[in-house]
Amino acid sequence: RKKEPLRIMISGAPASGKGTQCELITQKYGLVHIAAGDLLRAEIAAGSENGKQAKEYMDKGKLVPNEIVVAMVKDRLNGPDSREKGWLLDGYPRSSSQAIALREFGFQPNLFILLEVPEEILVERVVGRRLDPVTGKIYHLKYSPPETEEIASRVTQRFDDTEEKVKLRLQTHRQNVEAVLSTYEDITVKVNGSGSKHEVFAQIDGSLTQLLEQKQEKLGTV
Ligand code: AP5
Repeated sequence: RKKEPLRIMISGAPASGKGTQCELITQKYGLVHIAAGDLLRAEIAAGSENGKQAKEYMDKGKLVPNEIVVAMVKDRLNGPDSREKGWLLDGYPRSSSQAIALREFGFQPNLFILLEVPEEILVERVVGRRLDPVTGKIYHLKYSPPETEEIASRVTQRFDDTEEKVKLRLQTHRQNVEAVLSTYEDITVKVNGSGSKHEVFAQIDGSLTQLLEQKQEKLGTV
């Protein structure tokens, strides 16, 4: 019998470390990383009508309407790579209606990871974040600075990474997090996200290893 690939969701406040952990998870587990925020920023960069509309909401730290987000995520989940390798969904769902839409399309995760980080740390993480436009890699001026001068000279900042905007993004997060959490209560693992990125990854890695072992045992008994 063929092994079913992993289906993982990762959630947490703005700058809680979702993207950073996703880099480490995909390196080890080979899952397809699908990040709602990245898909939206790609639409903005492409200058599409959806991108133009999405930017208005993102500028205010609000949720982009479901009409734009849901189809976008669904298409990526349906891609042949996601079906074959499994997926790691980052920043979706952010409301109970988004969770319901996903279930109706037949997508159910095996595990829901929640990164927990105190708010005072989040603002510092946002303001110091930098991105390498060439590799897509996430940096932080203090916690994970660019490895070379060349990278340091080309890193950019996200348009919504100001102190003022992260406060709005946090507000939106607080309003929605409980509804999403209650949907996935049975499969949620809460991870302390305030340590170093490798300490945080060690916790996630432990849960994923355990999950794979359980799946293996189930296969063995059939
Ligand atoms: P999105 O792009 O998803 O932003 P977000 O949720 O605010 O999360 P971030 O990307 O800011 O942070 P992260 O948790 O990935 O942290 P990172 O690893 O980079 O969404 C943006 C917008 O799009 C939303 O506001 C909304 O408008 C819209 N949107 C997205 N999804 C949507 C949806 N489903 N429905 C509707 N609208 C949607 O880390 C942050 C920084 O901290 C980095 O500099 C990193 O180097 C550093 N860092 C990370 N981990 C550590 C650590 N352990 N120690 C020290 N530093 C660390």
